[in-house]
Amino acid sequence: MRNLGQIDYSPDQRPNWRIIASLWPYLTEFPGRVVLSLALLVAAKLATVAMPLALKYIVDTVEQARGSEVLLWTPLLLVLAYGALRLASTLFGELRDAVFARVAERAMRRVSLKVFQHLHRLELGFHLSRRTGALSRDIERGTTGVSFLLRFMLFNIVPTLLEILLVALILLAAFRPGYVLLVVVAVLVYVLFSVRVTEWRTRYVRESNEMDNQSNTRAVDSLLNFETVKYFGNEEFESQRYDQDLKRWESARMKNRLSLAALNSGQAFIIAVTMTAMMWMAVTDVQRGSMTLGDLTMINAYLIQLFIPLNALGFIYREIRQSLVNIERMFSLLGQKAMIVDSPDAQTLAAGPAALEFDAVGFGYQEARPILKNVSFTVPAGHKVAVVGRSGAGKSTIGRLLFRFFDVTDGAVRINGINIRDLTQSSLRAAIGVVPQDTVLFNDTIWNNIAYGRPDASDEEIRRAASLAHLDDFIAALPDGFQSKVGERGLKVSGGEKQRIAIARVLLKDPPILLLDEATSSLDSHAEQAVLAALNEVARKRTTLVIAHRLSTIRDAEQILVLDQGQIVESGDHATLLRNNRVYAGLWRQQQEEAVE
Ligand SMILES: Nc1ncnc2c1ncn2[C@@H]1O[C@H](COP(=O)(O)OP(=O)(O)OP(=O)(O)O)[C@@H](O)[C@H]1O
Ligand SMILES: [Mg+2]
Repeated sequence: MRNLGQIDYSPDQRPNWRIIASLWPYLTEFPGRVVLSLALLVAAKLATVAMPLALKYIVDTVEQARGSEVLLWTPLLLVLAYGALRLASTLFGELRDAVFARVAERAMRRVSLKVFQHLHRLELGFHLSRRTGALSRDIERGTTGVSFLLRFMLFNIVPTLLEILLVALILLAAFRPGYVLLVVVAVLVYVLFSVRVTEWRTRYVRESNEMDNQSNTRAVDSLLNFETVKYFGNEEFESQRYDQDLKRWESARMKNRLSLAALNSGQAFIIAVTMTAMMWMAVTDVQRGSMTLGDLTMINAYLIQLFIPLNALGFIYREIRQSLVNIERMFSLLGQKAMIVDSPDAQTLAAGPAALEFDAVGFGYQEARPILKNVSFTVPAGHKVAVVGRSGAGKSTIGRLLFRFFDVTDGAVRINGINIRDLTQSSLRAAIGVVPQDTVLFNDTIWNNIAYGRPDASDEEIRRAASLAHLDDFIAALPDGFQSKVGERGLKVSGGEKQRIAIARVLLKDPPILLLDEATSSLDSHAEQAVLAALNEVARKRTTLVIAHRLSTIRDAEQILVLDQGQIVESGDHATLLRNNRVYAGLWRQQQEEAVE
């Protein structure tokens, strides 16, 4: 069985840069917006690069006109231009963000939906072994990653490189090549250093993500088991276990932080050295007279301006890598192939009466442990067959195979002679109504939980279904009636009430095949008789497979299969089986005695 926890977290797993390509479709969804925001971006960058130039001219004109009494129109205009540039560079940037927001948000929406749909496509086996807490965290981080990546790839990496190029060109045009050389070398060293250190850090990022998942899984699981924790007074134990996880998370985050500090310090060092060297060069040049004071100011302004985005570049490179890791993890969910898929030429199951056939079916959840062995039986259309047997015999498994939650290992399950592997899953499942052994309800109202059976049902039909399932008295007694909330997983209603809601839901769905897995096991005999009468009424026209523990509830079935350790050891109607005087007769006597006591 697959397990999400098995996805590789090894530290040397490198982020997959190809993921970036997979984001392309999200950009092309709004081409107009993308182009407009790119134009705004260029405008903002041009304004930014022009600022130090304006500054240079201000300083130079002021320097030349020092001591003069005339009003200085030129510097005033230059100062105004400087102010306008400054405003423009920020304003265009903000505008760009606003225009692009829709693209990024839409991408997040699309990706979330895609993952959600995919998760529903994966089979039960996957969901039985997933860890809900970790799963939700992975999706959360992955979608945020997509938005981040879209925004920053386009608006930081590319423009920063553009800016460096522009600055280098200006420096090259204005001053001796030494300056450009220094800038280029510094940028290279800076980028190399950032990349190397960031790569080294990735393992700590992963580790802290993993620990975050683990502690979240633990917390969710513990809270889901709230009652059990209380029954055994294990709050302290739970806290300790959680704290163990938190402790590991804490230390993973500490390492993450420390390595970040190392990265930042190294970057600061490179910047400081470059600035010092550059300023010294400029100062000597001014002294020698080959440069003006304005030039000195401009170089200083460019350097400061250059290292701000470069500094951000380090941060962004780190974040992009992290986003890639997160997206990859989310995409690896998308990469999980569904094991149960429609065959390419799958047919739709025609509506109407359905006959079931299990033909020499063999199945095991794990290879090493077969659960069903050579199980064969048929249920003619409109008839009822019951399956009885000890706990763990494989009764519910038969139901899961019929519903195609799992595929059989040997033999075949057929409906109207068609192997269910050759039917579309949607038509197969539409034809089967299941009242499961353990009903779980949505955290919603009773009304909506019943209506879930057929979302387009009329109010009248919903009331009728509730009535048939003997919910009337219960609902009448509730202050909020149908609108009462059932709580998470339906924990605020009793086991029997939950079961009756599940029955109402199936009555509403009104399918040609009914699968009742201990459908009335939580009801007292009085309620059971009433609900059974309703179910029998409904089952009369339908093909019905009943799984029951209490034999009295199925004694009227036309055929009873006795399952023992995955094999049908006996079959026939109640009277025949009693006459046979074997397993069934033994079980029957045992239950009769218990009833008498
Ligand atoms: N997802 C699973 N993975 C592995 N083993 C499983 C899984 N589901 C059930 N089993 C095992 O398969 C066997 C048959 O399970 P099944 O639910 O069919 O029993 P059952 O006859 O319905 O029992 P009960 O009367 O207690 O409901 C059990 O021993 C159970 O431990
Ligand atoms: Mg069962």
